[in-house]
Amino acid sequence: MENQIRDPNMKRITTPELAKVFIEKQVANIRRTVGDKKVLLALSGGVDSSVVAALLIKAIGQNLVCVHVNHGLLRKGESQSVIDVFQKQLGATLIYVDAQDRFLDVLVGVEDPEQKRKIIGKIFIDVFAEEAAKLEGISFLAQGTIYPDITESKGIKAHHNVGGLPPELNFELVEPVKFLYKDEVRVVGETLGLPHSMVYRQPFPGPGLGVRCPGAITRERLEKVRESDAILREEFAKCGLEGKVWQYFTIVPPFRSTGIKDGKRTFDYMVVLRAVNSVDATSASVEEIPYPVLFHIRDRILAEVPGVNRVLVDISPKPIATIEWE
Ligand code: XMP
Repeated sequence: MENQIRDPNMKRITTPELAKVFIEKQVANIRRTVGDKKVLLALSGGVDSSVVAALLIKAIGQNLVCVHVNHGLLRKGESQSVIDVFQKQLGATLIYVDAQDRFLDVLVGVEDPEQKRKIIGKIFIDVFAEEAAKLEGISFLAQGTIYPDITESKGIKAHHNVGGLPPELNFELVEPVKFLYKDEVRVVGETLGLPHSMVYRQPFPGPGLGVRCPGAITRERLEKVRESDAILREEFAKCGLEGKVWQYFTIVPPFRSTGIKDGKRTFDYMVVLRAVNSVDATSASVEEIPYPVLFHIRDRILAEVPGVNRVLVDISPKPIATIEWE
């Protein structure tokens, strides 16, 4: 059984200098372990898998094979930024799998949140295993496991972490950041040259926008979640809230309300805005978004997202609410 406890004497990585020492050590470790064999990595674009990818590219270059699965529940522009950073800028071997229809077709009519999570997790593993089976000469699987993943177990929701090891694949594991805390992973990522926006991005759940499209996911509602989320992120970036607020997103509930447009009655969906602050996601307080910012976001959503006639703000703390709606 491999050691799963962080060395109590290990210094916290708080500066680029300390990160450089860590990087050199890990690069040597990875080269020693992997040799000239190939390593597979599920690259979601999240902080942890991105930092692991950058470390492995530095250590073994083209012998790292990244698989990015687009499950149709990603935010606007997310897959493109993974391709831009890893394939175009860092020259990684990247396989892009467009599995949007496969996920969304199976999710049709599935209302229960935990069932949705299970389906998304299962299809993800199926798709990933299928891609792995097509490749030859892969001996290792890299994972973005971080220390809290080892030490914490969460009981409220079946938090599915994309990238779990498909048991039949029988690879050896490479987990170069498994003893790091999130803040340390970020310092390492920036020192490796990853974009600030990627390294400091807000937490994003494995099941993605699926948990922000409560009830049975429809493509129509999902598109409203994606577009309104993009507007919220753009406006938060413009007014400096991006680096300040811990997590912010939109939700589109599965029911409609009456409105009026150009003198005619409408019966359309609503967008709920949520912005919270937290340290470790076990509790969260609500960010007080200034009204002028809220009004501007409201105006943009009502003007730019078709089929929406109402904008609401969720001011519920965790507990009693959870951060996500599902
Ligand atoms: P909740 O909604 O439980 O969320 O207050 C706490 C934090 O976890 C994220 N979250 C998830 N992350 N898989 C994940 O990888 C999930 O199924 C999942 N559900 C919630 C949520 O975005 C928040 O940061």
